[in-house]
Amino acid sequence: MKIEYNKSLKEYNTFGIDVIASEFVKITSETELKDILLRENKKPIFIISGGSNMLLTNNIDSLVLHIAIQGITIIEESDDSIIISANAGENWHDFVLYCINHNYGGLENLSLIPGYVGSAPIQNIGAYGVELKDTFVSCEAIDISSGEKHIFLNDDCRFSYRNSIFKNDVKGKFIITKVTFKLSKRNHVLNTSYGAIENALKENGITSPTIKDVSEAVIQIRKSKLPDPAEIGNSGSFFKNPVISGKHFSELQKSFPNIPSYKIDNQNIKVPAGWLIEQSGFKGKRWGDAGVHEKQALVLVNYNNAAGKEILDLSKKIQAEIKNRFDIDLETEVNII
Ligand code: EPU
Repeated sequence: MKIEYNKSLKEYNTFGIDVIASEFVKITSETELKDILLRENKKPIFIISGGSNMLLTNNIDSLVLHIAIQGITIIEESDDSIIISANAGENWHDFVLYCINHNYGGLENLSLIPGYVGSAPIQNIGAYGVELKDTFVSCEAIDISSGEKHIFLNDDCRFSYRNSIFKNDVKGKFIITKVTFKLSKRNHVLNTSYGAIENALKENGITSPTIKDVSEAVIQIRKSKLPDPAEIGNSGSFFKNPVISGKHFSELQKSFPNIPSYKIDNQNIKVPAGWLIEQSGFKGKRWGDAGVHEKQALVLVNYNNAAGKEILDLSKKIQAEIKNRFDIDLETEVNII
């Protein structure tokens, strides 16, 4: 275990923002993690895993721990299902592909989401009608202050839309080291109701899809809309889709008859932030190296060397315009550091 000083984090965040960490350590085992927490217990600690859901706006004057613990373990299995664990430093999409290649069903709609397994529960990653919470059994996490291991079961995590206990009550207190899932081995329950998946399967001439077909459809859709962080820095959706009251929605409909919506319950309606941003004229616009993606207005991008503050300023400009036009407060999905 080596401490590196004044280390650039450009390679460690998918936005590709070049900030400096005063101290940086790559952690490859739980023992290393416990050792360093014990040794450095007075220092402020900052955790980075896949760096796929953060916007770094300042240098980090803390001990940065890059959690890169790898390994996949089968806990138990029957003819119908399997309980499987992945360590926090496994690449999420590689883990999804591992499951698909072994015919374990449940994660296929979550294909190609950037990031590591360990950060997936924090924001309850979701796509195309499926969320992590649907297959999540538990996770192991180390308490930063005591170094002790804690197990969070599904209910303990209080998952909701892009949210969990790790963004609220226990924020910054634990480091997730392992996540356990329950997946199907046969009679897979496919979720292909999302319009774009149905269309992609139809285009590919597939009438009775396998989990691999669904994964490939999702990969095709994501590649067509979302920029690859290896080519253009980004953190996926920058904002959450806002939920507004039915009354507010009816008022907006008078001025914007085509406003898309998803009903949440009798009182609340979700509207796609991407639509609001596109209507406000931001789609495909660029200020220096900071911009709004040309194919998906919900994604802010770093074309090359944008500073985190430039992306943040752009996001504030968007929030102000959406407030002004629609009286809607857009909340960031990405963590601003
Ligand atoms: N839309 C526009 N213009 C745009 C983008 C979207 O008008 O530039 C409208 C369209 O009406 C479209 C609707 O928004 O039908 C929904 O767009 P899309 O299907 O692309 O989904 P999204 O609401 O923009 C959410 C998630 C994505 C996830 C997709 C698919 C959030 C914040 N984002 O995006 O998650 O992949 O649904 O399930 O909920 C992420 O979290 O980083 C992410 C990419």
